[in-house]
Amino acid sequence: MLEVLHNLPDPFSNVQNLKNRFGVKGLSMDEMVTLSGAHSIGVSHYTSSTRRLYPRQDTSIDPVFAAQLTASCPQNGSNSTTVQLDVVSPNRLDNSYYKNLQIRRGLVLLGSNSMA
Ligand code: HEM
Repeated sequence: MLEVLHNLPDPFSNVQNLKNRFGVKGLSMDEMVTLSGAHSIGVSHYTSSTRRLYPRQDTSIDPVFAAQLTASCPQNGSNSTTVQLDVVSPNRLDNSYYKNLQIRRGLVLLGSNSMA
């Protein structure tokens, strides 16, 4: 278990750091983006889901989606609260993860400069 945790990228990583982490495993940026499509299924816990909501809402999130997210994850909520990573087709492994990001309705899981 410790070995897994040690090898998982930190969700607060920025793009350069993720690039390095994948790079040492022999994986390119292209492969990193492709693998990230796995976020088309599964859930995110409160602390991962709200980093762009509190204390200040990231204005790059679609306002309607931000309001839905805020309703599901009110401020000072519990980390046992989860939201779907892909709100459009949560149980289907498809390309919605990317489509949602394009329309600013995705949970951006990466760190500070990942929107660039
Ligand atoms: C690019 C680096 C990655 C970052 C920064 C990242 C980050 C995250 C974060 C923050 C969560 C939510 C965790 C939680 O709050 O419970 C998550 C969930 C998940 N990630 Fe990643 N991830 C990355 C790469 C990957 C890769 C390569 C895969 C698979 C090929 C993957 C598959 C998943 C899945 C399936 C879930 C949902 C887990 C569940 O439902 O319990 N991720 N990821």
